[in-house]
This record gives sequence, structure tokens and C-alpha cells, in this order.
Amino acid sequence: MTIRFNDETFRDDYTFHNSPEAIRRFPFPFDQDSYMYSVNLEPHAGGRAGTPFQNRFDVDEHYVAEMKDREITLAQDPLRCQSLPHMELAGWDFLELVMVSKAEDYPELFELHRDGDRWHWINRPLGIEQRFTFLDPTTLPCGPLEYITRQTQGDHALLDQRDDNLWMDAGMITSQADWSLDFDIGMNFYEWHAPVPKAHEMGVFQRALKFLLNLRQEAPVRRLNWTMTVNPRLDTSPENYHKWGPEKRTITPETVGAKQHLRVELQTLWRLPRSNAIAFPIRCYLCSLEDIVTQPKWGRRLHRVLRDLPDELAEYKGFAVNRPTIVDYLAKFDDGAPTSPGI
Ligand code: HEM
Repeated sequence: MTIRFNDETFRDDYTFHNSPEAIRRFPFPFDQDSYMYSVNLEPHAGGRAGTPFQNRFDVDEHYVAEMKDREITLAQDPLRCQSLPHMELAGWDFLELVMVSKAEDYPELFELHRDGDRWHWINRPLGIEQRFTFLDPTTLPCGPLEYITRQTQGDHALLDQRDDNLWMDAGMITSQADWSLDFDIGMNFYEWHAPVPKAHEMGVFQRALKFLLNLRQEAPVRRLNWTMTVNPRLDTSPENYHKWGPEKRTITPETVGAKQHLRVELQTLWRLPRSNAIAFPIRCYLCSLEDIVTQPKWGRRLHRVLRDLPDELAEYKGFAVNRPTIVDYLAKFDDGAPTSPGI
């Protein structure tokens, strides 16, 4: 498989774009015409060829540009990557998981050669070649979590498990939907989820945590989450709200199709072998409304979902101000035909 990497930006002039192939493989998240929070976890055990679910860590046409965007964000704010001292082993576990998975799943892009603890890593798209000693931090240019997540699309949280809870004790978070690692670090599962409406009363977090505390190695799971973002911006962090918040006011009936993006997160959860920590990669996919409606069943369904979404969710997801304009735009692509369950 060959991937042509886009030359594009996720800020300033926003030259991000999806090829027709990227639109077709976009992980459209709705399997019915309405949406409510649920414990939507399923095994992360592959998927149809060409979809983002096929491989353990999806690499697509945005890879190189996303890594450049991460570099810019980190240069401006190094606290987007943090690891409490007891999480270093989890960082090594995660580095191993990513390197082994990518080398096996994309042999033309990545190679890993291991001779005992002496490892040799080659990342062709980013032009990186590194020899290092596994578990010896002095042999890498930075900590293991930072090293591997500068080369892996998506945000990544590492959760320590103790006292029947999960604790966000490390992460690389540069493309988040309005939450902050620096604020959340050291919090537990209930604390960092506190701002989410409705889900606590529905028991969603109690059930999800119970499930995750029993997550087994070699049995990763996944779920999709979604929100709406104006402009194809990865860094929608609270720290930089002054940069992207005002852009919400640029949505008009003329601009909504091109500027308003559906933002989907493919989240996976992995039990790590040495540390017993859980890795939580959050892979972000962006698609403009005008690209979404090229798939008639998506345009039709997104219209119904957004039209009928409870106000608290539209408020929490930050698009209540633009909902009428978005729904009016999408209504033109909803012919009223019945839809069948499934994506
Ligand atoms: C939102 C982290 C697992 C459901 C969030 C937020 C964070 C987060 C930081 C944003 C909260 C805010 O507004 O500040 C994590 C981490 C997880 C995890 C690190 C790994 C253990 C799960 C699981 C579920 C879940 C397994 C399953 C039900 C949700 C929901 C939201 C949310 C429903 C609201 C999202 C939205 O409406 O856009 N999560 N989460 N999370 N999380 Fe999780």
C-alpha cells in the first residue's frame, strides 16, 4: 500500500483537505438517526481493508502534516506532554506497542529490528532512524512517551490503575476537543469526566470504568466519540481558546459547508504488559460538511442527529451557537427517506 502524504496545515491558512479516498474512509460515527451517550465499546480487532479500523494504529494521508502541527504546538507549550515519574515504564510499554504494531502493519513505512534490548527503529515518512537500548532513557533524545507520540497520529493518555480507579498520570495531548492535560493530570476517571452532561446520571461512567478495570492484555477495545469544530484545527485546547473560539463567529450560510467540520475521535484502549497501565490513543478525523454530504446517507443522517440532539449536548460540544445554520444547511441534503440501522 502506498500513501501520498498531504502537504497541508491545521492552523492559519488551513490548507487541510481530504482526498476522495479519505472521505470514503472517514469514520462516520452514527449508526442511527439520533444520538445519546452510551458505553459504546467493542473489540479493537481489525476491520474492513482500507478503513481506519483495519490496523492497530491507523496511518493516513495526514500523518506527516499532523506530526508537524504537533511539533509547532509543543514548541509553543511544552506542558502538552507530561509524564509523572512513576509512568516511565508505561511510556516504554507504549513505545513498544506502537513500534511493533506499525512495523508489522506498515512494513514499507516503518521497520523495527530487535537484538535483545538493542533496538533499531526506522520511520521513513518522517526520515527518522534511531538505535537505542530498550528501557534505557539515556539512549533516546527524550522520554519514551514523547519520543513515540511525536511519531504517532492522535493524542495519547496513559492511565495508571490503582484504588479501583484510573488516573491520568501521563499524556501527549495536542489535538484535543477543548480539554487540558495540564489541568487534568493526576485526576481520576470520574474527576476528568465531571464536566460531561447527562452521562453520570445515566451510569455510563460507572459501567465504563468497571469494564476498563478488567481490560486484558491482547484484547484492546475501541469506541467513537464526536464533536463539531470550525475550521480544520487540531489544537482546540482551552489554552488556545482565544485563537479558535472567535472563529465560531465566522460561520454564515455561505461559509458553513466549507468551514464547519465534523470531528470524530477513534479512541482505543490497551492494557500494557509491564506497567499494567492503560494506553488511551485518541485519533482525530476531520471532515467538512460539504465533504460529508457527498455521501447522501451521511448528509441525511447527520441532519437528523444534529437537529434532534439534546440542547445540553450541543452546548457541551460547543456548537449550540451555530446549530441553526448547520441544520439549515444539512436540511437541503435530507430528502426525508427512511434510513436503515448501521453505518
Ligand atoms: C469526555 C478522557 C474513556 C466517555 C472526555 C473528556 C476527557 C476524557 C478528558 C473531556 C472532558 C471535559 O469536558 O473536560 C477519557 C480518558 C479515557 C476515557 C483518558 C480513558 C480511560 C472513556 C470511555 C467512555 C468515555 C471508556 C465510555 C463511555 C466520554 C464521553 C465524553 C467524554 C461520553 C463526552 C464527549 C463529548 O460529548 O464530546 N473523556 N475518557 N470516556 N468521555 Fe472520556
